Amino acid sequence: MANPLKSLIVDDGRYQKSFKLFLERSSEHQCMQDFIHNMLPDILSSIGNGKSHLNVIGVGSGAGEIDLEMLSVLRMKHPGVTVDNEVVEPSSQQLHNYRVSVSQKADLDHIKFTWNKMTASEFEEQWKAKKMTKKADFIHMIQMLYYVKDPGATINFFQSLLDKNGKLLIILVSGQSGWGKLWRTYRNQLCNIEISQCVTTGDIKSFLDSKGVSYQNYELPSQMDITECFTEGNEKGELLLDFLTEVLDFSKTASPELKEGVLNLLRHPDCSAETDGKVIFNNGLEVIVLDQLS
Ligand SMILES: C[S@@+](CC[C@H](N)C(=O)[O-])C[C@H]1O[C@@H](n2cnc3c(N)ncnc32)[C@H](O)[C@@H]1O
Repeated sequence: MANPLKSLIVDDGRYQKSFKLFLERSSEHQCMQDFIHNMLPDILSSIGNGKSHLNVIGVGSGAGEIDLEMLSVLRMKHPGVTVDNEVVEPSSQQLHNYRVSVSQKADLDHIKFTWNKMTASEFEEQWKAKKMTKKADFIHMIQMLYYVKDPGATINFFQSLLDKNGKLLIILVSGQSGWGKLWRTYRNQLCNIEISQCVTTGDIKSFLDSKGVSYQNYELPSQMDITECFTEGNEKGELLLDFLTEVLDFSKTASPELKEGVLNLLRHPDCSAETDGKVIFNNGLEVIVLDQLS
């Protein structure tokens, strides 16, 4: 039977609002920034093979906060290079926010931005139709592989674009996180696979292992305060619940049984820890880094 619940991502306004609240209530971007400053410099040091020009592709860049941070590390490791940065992002609002940030930031003159308002698969189709031969030195897809129909095929395509010493960096929620537990329990009820795959790094690693593709991985511990979800009628709690379940208006449209089951699981020790009256959800992330296919 078709899933009667509507996916949150069909309402871009509410999706972006809930994502913004999620960023405020979680250490999501903080833990990524720690990774970018502590681990990424070493990962990026070998890319480019001494070239004076680097090609970068950001897929599902959102408003670009994390992308711009990574571009500054890239510059630190490769001073003096010029950069061609393809941004692939289907949301016009997010793309607009990214462009505004770029226009307000100094030190970006060495980067040429190309704005692709499209999905990863539209970008792939366009790339193939134009028979592009350009290779990329650094490709990243941060918290976006959920939204492609076939994450494995998407990884294959983007990995095939890597130049010698190029790196493909993926960040998704970890299989060990609260998200992993939630999706393993309620995948059939919550995930509309036409829109979101509810995929974790656990699934991606199994896929890569089955294909014999090697990778490096790094766990990024992260938390999210979901206390408001447990106050009936709390507007922010409802927005967070939409984000957690990826269902539009979850509180109003889910059956009472599903709502009760999800709320119970969210505060279960498999997903969250309760401290000082707060419910802290395990938002653990994991980074996977792939090299050029040999
Ligand atoms: C959770 S946000 C992550 C944004 C950013 N990478 C970050 O970590 O802050 C997911 C992003 O993927 C974009 N997106 C959704 N479907 C996509 C698709 N099929 N291809 C590429 N990007 C997509 C969304 O518009 C959104 O900006």
